[in-house]
Amino acid sequence: MPRPFSSQLHDHLIPWTKLNWPVDWPALFGRQAQLEVEIGFGNGGFLADRASRYPNRDFIGIERSLASTHRIFKRIERDGLTNIRVLLGDAAFALNHLFAPESVTQVFVNFSDPWPKERHHSRRLIQPSFLDLVGRRLCEDGQVTIATDHEGYALWIEDAFEHQRMLASVHETVAIDQIEGRSPTKYEQRALDAGVPIRYYEWKRCAPVHESARDERIEEVPNVILDGTFDVDTLLDAFDGSTWQGEHEGVSVVVKLGCAFQDRDRGHVLIETMVREGAFAQHLAIALIYRPPSQLLVKPSPIGHPRPTWGVKQAVQFVTQTLCVACPGLRVASSTLGESVDAEPFRAS
Ligand SMILES: C[S@@+](CC[C@H](N)C(=O)[O-])C[C@H]1O[C@@H](n2cnc3c(N)ncnc32)[C@H](O)[C@@H]1O
Repeated sequence: MPRPFSSQLHDHLIPWTKLNWPVDWPALFGRQAQLEVEIGFGNGGFLADRASRYPNRDFIGIERSLASTHRIFKRIERDGLTNIRVLLGDAAFALNHLFAPESVTQVFVNFSDPWPKERHHSRRLIQPSFLDLVGRRLCEDGQVTIATDHEGYALWIEDAFEHQRMLASVHETVAIDQIEGRSPTKYEQRALDAGVPIRYYEWKRCAPVHESARDERIEEVPNVILDGTFDVDTLLDAFDGSTWQGEHEGVSVVVKLGCAFQDRDRGHVLIETMVREGAFAQHLAIALIYRPPSQLLVKPSPIGHPRPTWGVKQAVQFVTQTLCVACPGLRVASSTLGESVDAEPFRAS
């Protein structure tokens, strides 16, 4: 009798939006072990085989398809694997935020989507910047293995390797055409059956990592206290459709404010908010909590457990600025935002 999907999710899926970043992997697995990552694991067969072959290592599968997580859960449950966890999200975002520099021993990228049309090439996962990021997450002697059966993508990957600085081929050649003893993925088996040549890239870290470790803690909820006079109707009308766009550490950030809703009894207000940072989008509410006689506390509502990212801090800043412009009688009495966010108020539309 299979266990309900909800309890499988609880055991095998990483609740990464509710954890400190980077994730403390030894605490999550309950032991110190080498960490391997597979990006885009599809049906999960390759990852599950590897996890059962190497019980002393821990494995993270990063996927953006929920259907794929269903499939791998079946294998995890069937084989009783305790050394795999699944991370549902975008690979580049996850590697960047959830893994500390030099923390991974092996990364696999098996048959990632080749996006054959020229106008879609920018969607290809393998780019020089992505390879540099992978290199910075690999520990000394750590290795990345990339496989493809798409000729055009192979050329693209080789060009990307030429333009990155962190990795060097393990072999004398850029690629090899087979790896002994490897258990094939679904797409790999399909290519083998059809006689389509496969290119395997095995590259290891070859340069020092100059990246300071980040530490983003979930309990750091940003807030601002405003003090002064305001008119509630003006305040409720101030937000609808306002957008802020900018960039943080090379990632594009968008904050969009929607409708404002007011609690009839206490006067508190919730503002519908969307924050997008690269591929990571959060839908949340910014709360304006009325503290009589003259204060408003601005902070993300705990509804939906928003992650206090830079973008969410920026959203609190944007709401504060929008409020101060709409209600000139308000001024900032205190703020936890400090210099961390973008103070320029009028890149808004
Ligand atoms: C072509 S399939 C290959 C599946 C499997 N690796 C195999 O070889 O059979 C590519 C997989 O990568 C996943 N994927 C594509 N882009 C991704 C990204 N940016 N982050 C995480 N997963 C991604 C897709 O959902 C899909 O399951």
